[in-house]
Amino acid sequence: MKLKLRIWRQAGPNATGKLVDYDIDGVSEDMSFLEMLDLLNENLTNVNEEPVAFDHDCREGICGMCGVVVNGIAHGGSSTTVCQLHMRSFADGATIEIEPWQAGAFPVLKDLAVDRSAFDRIIQAGGFISSNTGSAPDAHAMPAPKREADVAFDNATCIGCGACVAACPNSSAMLFTAAKITHLAMLPQGQPERYSRVKSMVAAHDEEGFGNCTNIGECAAVCPKGIPLESIAQLNRDLIKSMFTKDGK
Ligand code: SF4
Ligand code: FES
Repeated sequence: MKLKLRIWRQAGPNATGKLVDYDIDGVSEDMSFLEMLDLLNENLTNVNEEPVAFDHDCREGICGMCGVVVNGIAHGGSSTTVCQLHMRSFADGATIEIEPWQAGAFPVLKDLAVDRSAFDRIIQAGGFISSNTGSAPDAHAMPAPKREADVAFDNATCIGCGACVAACPNSSAMLFTAAKITHLAMLPQGQPERYSRVKSMVAAHDEEGFGNCTNIGECAAVCPKGIPLESIAQLNRDLIKSMFTKDGK
């Protein structure tokens, strides 16, 4: 395949960025999107040009590092991560525009790489449980009902990629925050801090500069893990209850 790439190049956080055009040849339809970028970077390095900076780690759709906007849609609208997006999804001769996530709370570090540490700080505000030290508890010592266990598991699949923020016109991270809150709210281990958790994590979300949720639904449409809008409804229910409930009561 031969492709035309239009890629956001930005030397650093305070530099002015712009879209730069590249022609690339010899792309196999079996390559992943990141392997196509690897090939471009190999070509650029061979002619002593600066390779394109982009984040990646697992290349298996697990770590959430590799998010970029492809042709105006987070992850290219593929319902997967770009490391799992294959070049067979594009036509030979196509022009592909590649940009970083665009949100004030995700500042660009370089080219396509953004700083998503705001997510880490939301997790630090409450995305954990307290547990006594000592020997490991017996399996099934704390049984969880099947429905709640399934909902917890589904929400635990959020990989923190940030596509929900990139797709949201308000740059809201409410789907991410809701996934983390719902995961723990469904499990017996998450009950002791359930209501202080939701308050702290929503406050951290707002402090980081993410926008409010106005139920547009773009977040769920691009989420590679299928986190549903229902998780935001669950967060809202717990947030309202937290105004009248103290942890443990
Ligand atoms: S909710 Fe979905 S889109 Fe948002 S960070 Fe988690 S996995 Fe990514
Ligand atoms: S590189 Fe880990 S999800 Fe894409």
